Amino acid sequence: MTAPPIRRLFSRSITRTLLTPHPAEHYIRSLGLEWSDDPTGATVLTVDRPVPDVTVLRLRMPAGVKRPEPGAALEVGVVVNGVVHRRHYSPVDAATRADGLATIAVRRHPGGIVSEFLWDEAAPGMRLLLGDPAGEMSLPQTRPADILLVSGGSGITPMLSIASTLASEGHCADRDTGTLGPDLAITPSTQGRVAWLHYARRVEDVPFRDRLRELSRAGIDVQVIPTAEGTSTWGLDGHLTAAHLEAVAPWHPGATVFLCGPEGLATGLEDALGTDRFAEVLRERFTATVAEVPDTDGGAVTHVRSGVTAQNNGATLLEGAEAAGLNPQHGCRMGICHTCTAVRLSGATRDLRTGEVDSEPGCRVQICVSAPVGDVEIDL
Ligand code: FES
Repeated sequence: MTAPPIRRLFSRSITRTLLTPHPAEHYIRSLGLEWSDDPTGATVLTVDRPVPDVTVLRLRMPAGVKRPEPGAALEVGVVVNGVVHRRHYSPVDAATRADGLATIAVRRHPGGIVSEFLWDEAAPGMRLLLGDPAGEMSLPQTRPADILLVSGGSGITPMLSIASTLASEGHCADRDTGTLGPDLAITPSTQGRVAWLHYARRVEDVPFRDRLRELSRAGIDVQVIPTAEGTSTWGLDGHLTAAHLEAVAPWHPGATVFLCGPEGLATGLEDALGTDRFAEVLRERFTATVAEVPDTDGGAVTHVRSGVTAQNNGATLLEGAEAAGLNPQHGCRMGICHTCTAVRLSGATRDLRTGEVDSEPGCRVQICVSAPVGDVEIDL
């Protein structure tokens, strides 16, 4: 077998699933091939920790790997104690970047297996596994003319990709091409207005502040609005209000609005825009929206392949399996990436996003957003 068919084989998600818990790297090396030939991995070139709890990794992507659309996420996997863990991170670069590099920022969460691992261990030369792009929100191929970005905390990363892409396309007329970095080379396209409100406790907590200044010079009205202390450059502070929108983007009623941030920010935006207008917002969530679950839900879940049965009192099938000592394949844990999909052999499960119950035997369910309603057999 020659190298190219092997690369194709190892890049397929079904193959990665079958190989778990070992990464494709393990098998590729055992075949005597160089890992750098493999398209399922990226190499860490630089590691920066610019603000507390944020690890910024610059990656060299394998040739031919599809870069996510602006605002969408990249699946990244690491091996911790011999087990592959996958998460999704939005590259912060312009999607037009053509030098094969990508930058991701990982906020460290207490107890977060991947974020803690990267905070402690990430170093140049480290290999990361790559999967398929995923995400609810991305910049449409036909760019809207007027765009309002609203983000909070880690929501800065997809917005950086969207804003950098728009800047690289010369979307805003009021730009200074002399200030743009090599990955922001101008390719003229649709022009319009772009404003961005980003919320953080303190301005000093925000990574990529230099990049935000570059984007401002490229004609994007960026305001970093502190919620705990200080003010933005335009004197704004506190949580999102209609007055903030009016101050930064008085034209927002006709704009396409993108949102990525915590639920409190979403509630503030909904209050400011009204329910109907908020329904049009393009949104990437931090966590799945969960429907109300009756107290009567739950049951004995039999993981047929593993031979493990465990009582589950309404937790997700993924959480239940982990509590029972299993380690099912998963990524986002919020119903986006489909990495966790498994076949429900019998019984009923509730989709926690919609509240709907389904009991058709042999159906594939996303175990990170499904909970048992009575006894269930699952092919895990
Ligand atoms: S882990 Fe991503 S959909 Fe379940």
